[in-house]
Amino acid sequence: MFSANCLKALSSAQSVCVLTGAGVSEESGVPTFRSAGGIWEKFKPEDFARFESFISNPELVWEWYHYRKKVIREVLPNPGHVALAHMQDLVPDFTLVTQNVDGLHARAGSRDVIELHGNITRSYCVECGLFAGEEEQAVFEKTPRCKECGGLLRPDVVWFGELLPAGALEKAMEAAHRCDVFLSVGTSGVVYPAASIPLAARNAGAYVVEINREYTDLSPRMNETIIGPSGEILPLLVTHLTQRASHEPS
Ligand code: OAD
Repeated sequence: MFSANCLKALSSAQSVCVLTGAGVSEESGVPTFRSAGGIWEKFKPEDFARFESFISNPELVWEWYHYRKKVIREVLPNPGHVALAHMQDLVPDFTLVTQNVDGLHARAGSRDVIELHGNITRSYCVECGLFAGEEEQAVFEKTPRCKECGGLLRPDVVWFGELLPAGALEKAMEAAHRCDVFLSVGTSGVVYPAASIPLAARNAGAYVVEINREYTDLSPRMNETIIGPSGEILPLLVTHLTQRASHEPS
């Protein structure tokens, strides 16, 4: 499954950076955006993932987010999330960057995850900017409001046309530039700037491996693509890294 070059690169890697997308949570039961039956087949991004749509119909947008939050609360991290959480203890310098807003990496034990597109479990007030956790949002059935100023709360996720959280892309790019091995996992690679991160790693000399159920727009620009579910492939990579650790002089 893994090429000799991939295993060689992993064997000596001191720094590993991983970018994940919706595919890594698919085996937990969270729908992806663009696969067959994905979210954007049923919903129009412009109706639900734009600030203007939110302001013109906050109740409808919140209904969709309440549904997605419920789905996420009811699922568990899968072996792919767990493998990435293990990986951080097997490599001296490890960075996990995700486009996912579901918080499943942290629930699997990953630390310091760079969340490029925010996190659906948090909200903030569009008037005063105050953040709210799950309990405060739960007080309201439909459209949650700020406990301080009464302004509308919105999910802390990045919508189309909005900037990424301050510093997130910069940190991800730094990790991409210094890593020896880069893994692009479960992302279609069509949303920028996230999709530029594996390309930056490749340009900087990293060995870049894509893990996906199918070939993507990024595939021709990777060192290799491994076709298959991340929940099966990532644990195999961890086994390889664990064997490496057991052979290192203590
Ligand atoms: P997509 O839905 O665009 O792509 C999911 C990718 O995961 C596809 O390439 C699938 O083939 C692959 N896939 C599905 N199941 C898999 C599995 N079990 N193992 C491995 N690969 C699998 O999701 P993203 O690339 O994450 O943005 O989408 C990027 C952004 O577009 C999202 O963060 C979201 C969306 O609009 C915002 O919300 C800002």
